[in-house]
Order: sequence, then C-alpha cells, then structure tokens
Amino acid sequence: MLTNKPRAKILVDGGDPDETLGVKKLLGFVDGQTTNPSLVAKNPEIQQRIASGDTLSPKEEKEEYRKIVQAISPLVGDAGVSIEVFADLDTSAEEMLAQGKEMFTWIPNAYIKYPCTHEGLKAAEMSVRERIRVNITLCFSQEQAAAVYAASKGSKEPVYVSPFVGRLDDIGENGIDLVENIRAMYKNGDGHVHVLAASIRNLDHLLSSFALNAELVTVPAKVLEKWAASNFPMPDQAFTYNGIGANGQRLKPISYKVLDLNLPWQSFNIAHELTTMGIQKFVADYRATLKRSA
Ligand code: E4P
Repeated sequence: MLTNKPRAKILVDGGDPDETLGVKKLLGFVDGQTTNPSLVAKNPEIQQRIASGDTLSPKEEKEEYRKIVQAISPLVGDAGVSIEVFADLDTSAEEMLAQGKEMFTWIPNAYIKYPCTHEGLKAAEMSVRERIRVNITLCFSQEQAAAVYAASKGSKEPVYVSPFVGRLDDIGENGIDLVENIRAMYKNGDGHVHVLAASIRNLDHLLSSFALNAELVTVPAKVLEKWAASNFPMPDQAFTYNGIGANGQRLKPISYKVLDLNLPWQSFNIAHELTTMGIQKFVADYRATLKRSA
C-alpha cells in the first residue's frame, strides 16, 4: 500500500469498476476516475454482451455507461468521475450540453468531458455557468489550454484540462513538455483550471507528471500496477525526464509560447489534428459496439 501519497491526485483511466476496486486495494485509495467512449466499449460486461450476440441500442449503451459510472462513483475520492459526452465532428454545443446535463445527474461527483473543439468549449462555457463541473479532453496544444482557461473563467468549481501526453509522443513530440508549458502558463492565472495529465503510458510519464506538479494524473491500472511493483518510486530533486519515445527515438521538444489568458477564448487557434483524430477514434469505438450488436 502507498504510504507516501503524492500531491497530485491519482485517477484511474478505465471503464471497469472491478479494475478500479483492484487499484484501490493496491494503493489504499483512488482519488478519481476518467472514462471515455473507447474505455467504456472495452468494459468486460459490454464486451460479453456483444460476444453473446446481444443487441445494444444507443439508449442501452448509455444505460450501460450510467451503470458503470454509478458503480465507480462511490469507490473514488473528490477528484470525481469524468464522463464523456458522445460527440462526433458535427455534434453541436447544445447537443453536448444536453447530454452533459443529463450525465451530471447520474452521480454526485461527476465531471463532464467535452472535446477541446469550438463546440466543446462553447458547451463548457455554458456548463460552468450552470455549475456543471467540466473536464476538457483531447488537449494537444498550449493554445487549446489557454482557450479552456478563458472559456471557463468565473467557474465556481475547479475545471480540468487533459493534455494527452502519450498521443503526442506517438507522433514524435514530447508530450510531457506540453504539461510543463501549460503549468507554466497557468502560473499567470487565477488557478481555476487544474492540469490533469492524461494518456499516461509508462512510469516516466507518471513520475514526470508528479515532478511538474500537475494537480491530477489519470493512469491506466497496468501502469499503476507497475508503479506498485517497483515500490512506488517518487521523483527526487535530481529527477529529469529523458524525453525518449516508445521506439527509443528522441522526442521533439515543444516550446513554450507567451499567451495572454485574458483574451477571449475564440481568439486562440484551437485546431489540432490529434483532437480531430481523437474524436473520430472515440466515435469509431463507440459505433463498433453498436454495429456488431445491431
Ligand atoms: C483520459 O481522460 C483519456 O481519455 C485517456 O488518458 C486517453 O489515453 P490514451 O491516449 O492512451 O487512449
């Protein structure tokens, strides 16, 4: 069991309550949970239903999602459970908000995940006015994080922004740099946005997120199991991230940009191809469960 709890809140990145329970036993606590359509599609019960030829309508899929987050909710602490709206590239802010409002009633500790797009940020802006807690996902640039800050200004609740470390590494860029840059940029702000390091693939990512003082980090159970198996190492003063990708290549540094957090959120260039691809992947994984079962 973990005795020296890190400052960063630890969330389980998954879609299976049994897995969350396993991590809770291993660590002694779980601060929160993130889910997404791909992770929910992998839930063992959903997979079993599909394998047995059962049919899942979109309504039933939503019901399954609700049951999963309701089972996870009491297992986790105050970092809550992030529930992602089902959005494709044409989903409007109003449609996302309608889903977000409903999902927010599922559990008392919900955070609603909206994609870091124009419509997603519009939905987030409307949500925070209604005191719906939000997590802006699929963040791949400092501009996007600046827009999240500006769109959610005045929120009474902490807002999460999720930079995706591993997916930047996948295209040869140093995803940990993005976490560092966003943290540095937010030092000039009012502290209402918390950095949730996501798409964590290995112990180096985890320890770097701790070293950079990310407020939260969401981690697959497998990585947390490795951390436990190595007796929960923590970064010391001398810790440096090696910036080496999964294939042994040196990752391209991402440089810091000076951005004015007081500008309107619409003035930031929030386009990023990985955000678009991320939405497409979530849609494909979600639809795959429906298609095979329909
Ligand atoms: C969590 O909020 C994210 O959806 C998740 O960390 C993405 O991880 P991946 O890039 O490994 O799919």
